[in-house]
Amino acid sequence: MNLLRPGSGFGMAGWRLVCAAVALALWRPAESCPAACTCTGVRIYCADTERSIAAFPALSEPEMENITDIYIANQSSFSSINDKDLTFYRNLRNLTVTNTRLTYVSRQAFQNNVKLQYLNLKDNNLSSLSWKTVHHLNISSLLLSGNPLQCSCENMWMRGDESEAAELMCVEEGGKRRHLSKLTLPNCVVPTVSLHPKSVTLMAGSNITLTCNASGMPTPDLNWITCPLNSSHEIVTTGQTSILRLKDLSSLDNECKITCSSDNTAGESEASLHLDIHCELKISPKHEYHGCLQLDNPTHINNGEYTLLASNRYGRDRKVINAHFMHNPWNDTTATDSLYYDPTTDDTPLEPPEDRVAVYVVVGIAVVTFTGFVLMLVVLKFGRNSKFGIKDHSNAPEEETGLKSGFVLFHNVPVEVVSR
Ligand SMILES: *[C@@H]1O[C@H](CO)[C@@H](O)[C@H](O)[C@H]1NC(C)=O
Ligand SMILES: *[C@@H]1O[C@H](CO)[C@@H](O)[C@H](O)[C@H]1NC(C)=O
Ligand SMILES: *[C@@H]1O[C@H](CO)[C@@H](O)[C@H](O)[C@H]1NC(C)=O
Ligand SMILES: *[C@@H]1O[C@H](CO)[C@@H](O)[C@H](O)[C@H]1NC(C)=O
Ligand SMILES: *[C@@H]1O[C@H](CO)[C@@H](O)[C@H](O)[C@H]1NC(C)=O
Ligand SMILES: *[C@@H]1O[C@H](CO)[C@@H](O)[C@H](O)[C@H]1NC(C)=O
Ligand SMILES: *[C@@H]1O[C@H](CO)[C@@H](O)[C@H](O)[C@H]1NC(C)=O
Ligand SMILES: *[C@@H]1O[C@H](CO)[C@@H](O)[C@H](O)[C@H]1NC(C)=O
Ligand SMILES: *[C@@H]1O[C@H](CO)[C@@H](O)[C@H](O)[C@H]1NC(C)=O
Repeated sequence: MNLLRPGSGFGMAGWRLVCAAVALALWRPAESCPAACTCTGVRIYCADTERSIAAFPALSEPEMENITDIYIANQSSFSSINDKDLTFYRNLRNLTVTNTRLTYVSRQAFQNNVKLQYLNLKDNNLSSLSWKTVHHLNISSLLLSGNPLQCSCENMWMRGDESEAAELMCVEEGGKRRHLSKLTLPNCVVPTVSLHPKSVTLMAGSNITLTCNASGMPTPDLNWITCPLNSSHEIVTTGQTSILRLKDLSSLDNECKITCSSDNTAGESEASLHLDIHCELKISPKHEYHGCLQLDNPTHINNGEYTLLASNRYGRDRKVINAHFMHNPWNDTTATDSLYYDPTTDDTPLEPPEDRVAVYVVVGIAVVTFTGFVLMLVVLKFGRNSKFGIKDHSNAPEEETGLKSGFVLFHNVPVEVVSR
């Protein structure tokens, strides 16, 4: 069965009913392939001159999804490629439509066919084809020869260095054929745009005005294409200059791509920049994120600067503290330390003052005890064989005076703690 467009002949509702009935009764994947065509898993081939198709076959969605190659030739009823015809052929790579009555190709025809690489539209009835039809595609081969292309601004984009493009002919008003590549049209200039400034690096909260100038013939349309902007903004376009004012730049717009695009029938061009918005990120003691660096029994070798770095995609902040755990015992023996202090704040050391007093007292007692102990040893040692000697009380009584003099010598030293 030929797929006719709704409305041709029969009345739309009638065709819908018939199609629905047929589809319900007979639907099997292979049967959605038109009789004029051969459909294999990845390819549709329609070249039956007797039973021409008028539109692309509408297979089941999964089937269309699998198709990479469509070949249509010698089809006298095939005249247009419309907006939705190829919507479901998402994996289409090769499309050939040749020797048909193809007259019209919609600008949206290939909107969903981003994998299209090879487009052969030779020997049809096309008088023009807009660059907008194919500008989003990565086409390696575009064949358009054998069409009655007009020598118009709309077709000027087809000129190229490749052999096919260089040989493309166009038809002037009077019917004269000319090489498209040698054509110059007075009012046909592909637009150029300039964006000023070229880059934006600013602090959040700043204002900036971006200016986009365009030139080209006919007068190009100017458009700004941006990410969803959080900063407040306004656009003022006068003639071929458009201004984008950004006020109170939000750090949420950092890395936002801003494009000024201009196009006319001859073609398009665009210029872009990425916003680089810096902001002061603050580490505040009340904020939600916490981190902890715990040192197990820190000593003097752990003394020094400790830096907390916080960063996210909008910025970073750091805070430095100078942590001092104890003095180097091999260097500074006079020290009595607080355990930890932060010189960047006015805070008192972490140890409460009462505890420090307690530490001093304990250390003091220890020092006194130790000194007394040493003195005791000295006294004992010298006492054995000197005139100050301390001898057993069982020794000769005349030595008692020596003992006394010994204590006289040392009477200023507070050794009473020890002597008890
Ligand atoms: C599509 O192709 C895949 C892989 O080749 C295959 O498994 C699947 O059955 C095909 N789907 C249809 C509807 O033909
Ligand atoms: C289309 O028809 C022409 C002659 O009219 C023929 O030479 C050509 O082979 C046909 N193409 C296909 C694919 O059948
Ligand atoms: C597309 O067509 C070209 C030229 O006919 C052919 O070399 C290539 O293999 C085809 N690619 C696919 C995926 O069918
Ligand atoms: C070719 O297209 C023109 C309009 O551009 C139309 O008038 C003419 O009838 C078409 N020719 C065929 C054979 O369809
Ligand atoms: C465009 O296609 C060519 C091959 O035809 C390929 O090398 C290139 O990577 C493609 N570019 C993109 C952006 O897909
Ligand atoms: C940005 O512009 C507004 C008015 O549009 C003004 O009130 C504000 O002070 C400006 N900000 C800066 C940083 O210049
Ligand atoms: C844009 O064009 C206007 C007038 O055409 C001119 O005054 C201005 O300097 C141009 N700006 C840039 C950035 O080219
Ligand atoms: C900007 O972002 C803030 C915070 O996400 C949001 O509350 C505000 O509505 C946004 N404003 C605009 C104009 O998008
Ligand atoms: C001893 O301490 C002083 C300052 O208190 C310092 O300059 C010196 O480098 C230290 N020496 C050693 C060996 O740590």
